[in-house]
Amino acid sequence: MAAALDTTLLPDTAVVTATDIVVGGCSLTDLAATYGTPLFVYDEATLRARARAARGAFDDGVAFASKSFLCGAMAVLAVEEGLCLDVSTAGELDLVLRAGVPAARIVLHGNNKTDDELRRAITVGVRQIVVDSFGEIERLARLVPGHNVDVMVRVTPGVAAHTHEFIQTGQEDTKFGFSLATGDAHLAVRQLLAIPGVTVRGVHLHIGSQIFDVGSFEKTVDVVAPFLHEHGVAELCIGGGLGVAYVNGEVTVSLGDWARSVRSALARHGLGHLVLTAEPGRSIVAQAGVTVYTAGTRKRAAGRAYLAVDGGMSDNPRPVLYGSGYEAVVVQRPLAERTTTYRIVGKHCESGDVLIDEAWLPDDVAPGDLIATPVTGAYGYAMASNYNRAPRPAVVFVADGVARVVLRRESLDDLVRLDTLLA
Ligand SMILES: Cc1ncc(COP(=O)(O)O)c(C=O)c1O
Repeated sequence: MAAALDTTLLPDTAVVTATDIVVGGCSLTDLAATYGTPLFVYDEATLRARARAARGAFDDGVAFASKSFLCGAMAVLAVEEGLCLDVSTAGELDLVLRAGVPAARIVLHGNNKTDDELRRAITVGVRQIVVDSFGEIERLARLVPGHNVDVMVRVTPGVAAHTHEFIQTGQEDTKFGFSLATGDAHLAVRQLLAIPGVTVRGVHLHIGSQIFDVGSFEKTVDVVAPFLHEHGVAELCIGGGLGVAYVNGEVTVSLGDWARSVRSALARHGLGHLVLTAEPGRSIVAQAGVTVYTAGTRKRAAGRAYLAVDGGMSDNPRPVLYGSGYEAVVVQRPLAERTTTYRIVGKHCESGDVLIDEAWLPDDVAPGDLIATPVTGAYGYAMASNYNRAPRPAVVFVADGVARVVLRRESLDDLVRLDTLLA
């Protein structure tokens, strides 16, 4: 709809003037001039506020889902704000260990963990391993003896959350977890209890991502409550998945309300004593991040106005993967009326390389204008690729008028570093 950008989509500290957007006390125009575009800008105050809200809402053990956005600075910030970190691969585990995250603050996930991943997690002494398959239990039986390991059992509750099919994970037909309905979850607990050194600490659930209806989480608690009673577990991790607003008009639930709704569902089942944890990713980092692009080619085709920017599906594959929507705003004229729709496309060799299918922008948007897409802090950089040999953008954290590069822009030399002929 032709309306000004809803500025509540911007990071908490954003100040919008007629000629600029200032985040964390830093002008997006100046940041683009200094660091180039595309550029990811994260507002540290927003990251910290969301992390603190998560820690305040849930019990100790609430973990930042590092898959949503991870680098050394983010790992340090999450720990400083009292969060654990959930990791799903050797790469994520290695990064958080290098960043100095204590092993006792790390939770290992993964539906296809390798022996090496399990061995490293066991050796360094991670807080918990979230067990996902019978094959993994067999391997734990080989690898754990001589160590003590706390585990969570990932249970598939058979609840289809109201969200995109590719990010639903709680339904029966999924690669994740042990089915409650078939009895696999019970069998998994029994097998784990038989392994010396293994303590079954609790149950883990993750029903999907970008969920706005807390009723989906409450329904899940209703489904797993008898299982939680039967096995007398100490902790329930409700996973991640809380939705965030990406476009004008979307209404979200706070981290606090999410936790309260799950707690009251647990209390209704006499399970109010359980340690309640979660693994929010998107709800911590999405709104903190803004991507700044430079506008290039403008053209009309089949009656449609196209605007190309200097990034695309390589720095934000979500629109291609899930048809996700975003807003766009011209940084130098953020208050100008957005009267015309443009299809904002990237520079990649795919017709599908669309960032925003129908973005409202001022009619006079021109090559050289800076285009910002708010709410791009989650699963953008984290899913970035080098498609078409595109260097990954730089990432800066901004706070109190100071910008620090936390991930430098990839150079053309970086792009050939693995090429045995050219490096
Ligand atoms: C097991 C698990 N936990 C947490 C998350 C984080 O979800 P979100 O970023 O939607 O909060 C995911 C996302 O895929 C996940 O798979």
